[in-house]
Amino acid sequence: MALTVQGYKDALECLREQQLAQSLYDEGAVIMADVLLVLHGAEHRARRLLELKVFRRDFFRYYEQEVFPATLAQTIAPFVAAGAADLVDFGYRVTLNLTADFAGIDRPLRTTQETEHLRALVMSFSEGATLVHSTRNKEEVRAEVREALRDFDHSFYQPSLARRRDLLERLRRGEITQDDLPRDVLTVLAQNEDRIELPPELMMREIAFYLQAGSHSTANATTHAFHDLYSWAQVHPADGLRMRSDPLFQQRCVHESLRLHPASPVAWRKPICPMHLPTGQAVQPTDRVVIDLASANRDRTIFGADADVFNPHRVVSEGVPPWGLTFGVGVHTCLGRDLDGGVLPRPDCDPQTHQYGIVPLLVRTLFERGARPDPDKPPKAASHTERPNWGSYPVVLGQA
Ligand code: HEM
Repeated sequence: MALTVQGYKDALECLREQQLAQSLYDEGAVIMADVLLVLHGAEHRARRLLELKVFRRDFFRYYEQEVFPATLAQTIAPFVAAGAADLVDFGYRVTLNLTADFAGIDRPLRTTQETEHLRALVMSFSEGATLVHSTRNKEEVRAEVREALRDFDHSFYQPSLARRRDLLERLRRGEITQDDLPRDVLTVLAQNEDRIELPPELMMREIAFYLQAGSHSTANATTHAFHDLYSWAQVHPADGLRMRSDPLFQQRCVHESLRLHPASPVAWRKPICPMHLPTGQAVQPTDRVVIDLASANRDRTIFGADADVFNPHRVVSEGVPPWGLTFGVGVHTCLGRDLDGGVLPRPDCDPQTHQYGIVPLLVRTLFERGARPDPDKPPKAASHTERPNWGSYPVVLGQA
């Protein structure tokens, strides 16, 4: 039996409930079997603690301010030169560099062909992971994902792993220090291979999972945020100007968009034993608990009477994040949350050094390059998935 949980508070409590295990990715086991997001209990805790080493706030700020701008400038340059882009395509190209940096996948050539190769693989991994919502023939998608994993293993993963093992050997010999190692998940896993149970094939899929988890959600969030901010600025020109001059306000606008468009509209959980949900309903291990994140994020008792629409001036109650449940809550809370959404500003925050997040940075950069919807090519919804994502979003760039 499937039970749906809708209100914000009930959804929050269910996500925190330790007796509910992940179940949204059972269909996508071809890539997701036994990766971090689907583990439960002690096994999940041990792997998360290990991988968490890469996801620290000090590193996020450094990455956003020192590393990512160069990648972004390089990725956007050909689109600016062409005067046009498809935001979905641009989003994937730029964010797969981001997730490759965090996952630990080298791109030694830095050529357009290399990016294109990796992008095609990551798109396939995303389709595999979200198979539960696919509108395509599922066996066909699985076969494509298996092939993409073989290609990824040979073309990207093995060379990246070999370089890290070599560096770890040099560290052991005292030729380099811990600070000389790349800061990424693959390095952490390779350094702890003898301490955790991670067969080679699973370690490869864990990295493939990271690549897709970060790029798919960041690319979709960027396109949604561009659309929401642009549309709002059209009817509220003063806010449009403020988005350009006040990056803290611009970050607030992006958080409002994140609330309206959670990466997955639902989270699925299965009870590990007979239990009562926080709503009081009795459930069995054979039941499915569907946590409706999209409707929880539009709960009027929490976000106000206009919860269904974009309003960056909304006042959210203390303790409720402005993005609602979009990054999850509880043991599976997104590790990329602060990287992508940035840090919530405190009253005394310094706008010069504040960490705004990669999605606000991407949208700001698009606005600075004059991006606006292409009047001749309207955006289209994605047709290969039931998720409410954009399939294509053509924009023109440059002075209007
Ligand atoms: C706007 C962008 C993003 C959104 C909306 C998002 C959303 C989420 C959500 C909702 C979950 C929890 C799923 C559940 O409870 O069933 C999650 C987990 C996760 N996310 Fe993200 N994510 C984003 C970006 C990223 C990025 C950039 C990375 C990595 C570089 C990342 C890495 C992860 C990982 C590793 C987990 C699993 C954590 C665990 O199971 O312990 N995410 N994400």
